[in-house]
Order: sequence, then C-alpha cells, then structure tokens
Amino acid sequence: MFKLIIFLLTLRSCKTTGLKTSESLVLFSQFLHALKQNIIKFANNPGSNTRTGIGAGIHQKSGLLLDLKDADNQTITFTTSPMNNLKLMKEYLTWYFTSSSRHGVHSPFMYDFLDKCLYAGQDSGIFDKIESQRSRLIKNRQIITFKDLGAGSRNSDAIRTDGLTSKSIRQIAKSSLQSPKYTRLMYRIAGYFQCKNILEMGTSFGITTAYLSEAVKKEGTIHTLEGADAIADIARDVFNNLNCTNVTLHRGEFSDILPEIARCCAPWDMVFLDGNHNGPAVLNYFLFLVKHISPEGVLIVDDIRWSSSMWEAWNTIKSHPQVSVTADLFFMGLVFFNPSLSKEHFKVRF
Ligand SMILES: C[S@@+](CC[C@H](N)C(=O)[O-])C[C@H]1O[C@@H](n2cnc3c(N)ncnc32)[C@H](O)[C@@H]1O
Repeated sequence: MFKLIIFLLTLRSCKTTGLKTSESLVLFSQFLHALKQNIIKFANNPGSNTRTGIGAGIHQKSGLLLDLKDADNQTITFTTSPMNNLKLMKEYLTWYFTSSSRHGVHSPFMYDFLDKCLYAGQDSGIFDKIESQRSRLIKNRQIITFKDLGAGSRNSDAIRTDGLTSKSIRQIAKSSLQSPKYTRLMYRIAGYFQCKNILEMGTSFGITTAYLSEAVKKEGTIHTLEGADAIADIARDVFNNLNCTNVTLHRGEFSDILPEIARCCAPWDMVFLDGNHNGPAVLNYFLFLVKHISPEGVLIVDDIRWSSSMWEAWNTIKSHPQVSVTADLFFMGLVFFNPSLSKEHFKVRF
C-alpha cells in the first residue's frame, strides 16, 4: 500500500515537473531501492531535514520526486522538507481526493479564473530569454556568502559559519527558485487580473520577478524585496541582462523596509509572499499587507504546507474577515479579497 502511494505520487510529481513517466519509473525504483537499503529514511521530526543516499535529490516542491539530472553524482543528498514526508504524503492524498478541477467548481468567479488563467496554456517560447538566465545560474558553481533570513534551507550542502551561509549559485538556483510551471502561473495571474502594481517578497535571483515584469510590460511596476545582498547582486544582473526596466529591487530585511515601501508604493494588485517561510512572520506580513492591497487584488502565499506553523498561518489567513475566496493549490495558496464575492475556500488541482 505504501509503495502504491509512492508510485501514484511519483506519477503525479512527474506530471507536475514535466519528467517523462519512464524517467519517473526509473527514479521510483531507485527510490524504493534506497528506501529498502535504509539509505533514505523519512524524517521523523519536523526540522530534522537531511539524509544522505544514492540516487538523486528529492524534488524541491513535492519533497518526493528524485531529480534525474543529478543521477550521475556519486553521493547525493536526499532532503526532506521540515514537514515530515509521511505526513505530507497523507496530506497530499487527502487534498488530492477532496480537490477539484474546473468542472467541480460552481462559483463563476473561480470557474473563470481556472478556465482562463490557472489551466490556460501559453506559448512558452516567450520565456526562452528568462529561462536561459536560469540555465546560466544553474551552471554557475561560484560560492556566495550571505545572511540566510528565511526559515532555513532544505539544502544540506550549505556551509554555515558565524551566522552566514555559503552556497553555490547553482545550489540556490536549483533549490530556491520557482519552477517554470509556477513562474508561468505567476505570469498568467498578473495578466489575468491586469495587475499594474506588484509586490514580491523574496526576490532570490529574480527569475519569477522577470516573468512578472514580462507579464505587465511597460504598463506595470514590480517591487521586489531581497534581504541577502550577495543574492540581490545576482538578481540585479539578471534584470539588467533582461532589460527589466519596470522592476525596482529593494534590499533589506522585510520587516525593516516594508512599511516605507508601502508608504511610497501601495496599494498592490498582486502580492507574492515567497521569502521567509516562518508561519508567525508570514502572518505578520499578511496582517500588514491586507491594509495595502486593492480590493480586487490577489495575494499568493508559497509553501503553505512547508511546516505546521505555515499551515496554521494559512488557516488564519483564510478566516480573516477581509478575505473572501481562497484557493489551495497544495503548495501554494491564493487569496482574494473582492468583497462582492461570498466567502468560499476551494481546493484546486494544479
Ligand atoms: C524562495 S526564495 C525566493 C524565490 C523567488 N521568489 C523566485 O520565485 O525565484 C526566498 C528569498 O527571500 C529572501 N528572504 C527570506 N526571508 C527574508 C527576510 N526576512 N527579509 C528579506 N529577505 C528574505 C531570501 O534571501 C531568499 O533569497
């Protein structure tokens, strides 16, 4: 039964990440082999986050899928998310069997959103320039040192000394950036709601920012916040290379710089919370931002199931009186504020 669940999740993950089913099956058998050899164990304690084994890295989002591109490495680190993987699997199954696609949704607002935005395709060729920046970063093995301001990393290869973290650009590009599936979704959301003023908390190397910049073109502005200077330097180069003239990069710890940025630049039509994955911090950002988001705006929270504190924060956000509709995409949560919509929470397959 357990293997069947892993198998189904692997197939599902391969759909999510675009791997071929045959590749996924190879990975699945490697994964089972490693499990059997006791090379990988699931973390029992939230917070205990790494195991070493042969095979490949576990997929950043699902925490389950093995990454074929790394399969030639001799020793690979399997990284489990702070949320116990077994718990995550159970949650995924529950979510999967209680979630719906556009056909199970009766709300005209949500149906239209799913039909024209969430499930809409677009010509991926327009993103080639941005994706070539991602590829360039993934090839770069230069080590950078910075202050890790988030809720820690899933990557065990980081070296930490005196409160500073050293990591290769490649590692960060592989573990911290949104995958093309999600960056394209951000692009579609910005376009669907015709967003003019966007806030992104957590720039990293600016790949999602570049998608947002492309979505709003010259008619909109993106304010993106990054607290790690060495990372922000690389994002600035990405924006220069892509000629993202509508992006303003703000450097600093979120809570220090957010009030000033809100004073100058709010209200926002779209906010993407993709930085600090600490539940109470996310809730504080939300409570501040709720006053600075336009009534027809959308707020996106990444990694709502990253930890129990993130899950609690998500549930508190859902019940906030200003929130009308939410959509739980499993990894991401979308929040809508439009007061003309009645309060409703959707679980939507994506
Ligand atoms: C997951 S990455 C962002 C990924 C990016 N949005 C993308 O899609 O490519 C999170 C970033 O937020 C930054 N960050 C986390 N917590 C922060 C804080 N409290 N203040 C400022 N920056 C922070 C980290 O340095 C990291 O670069």
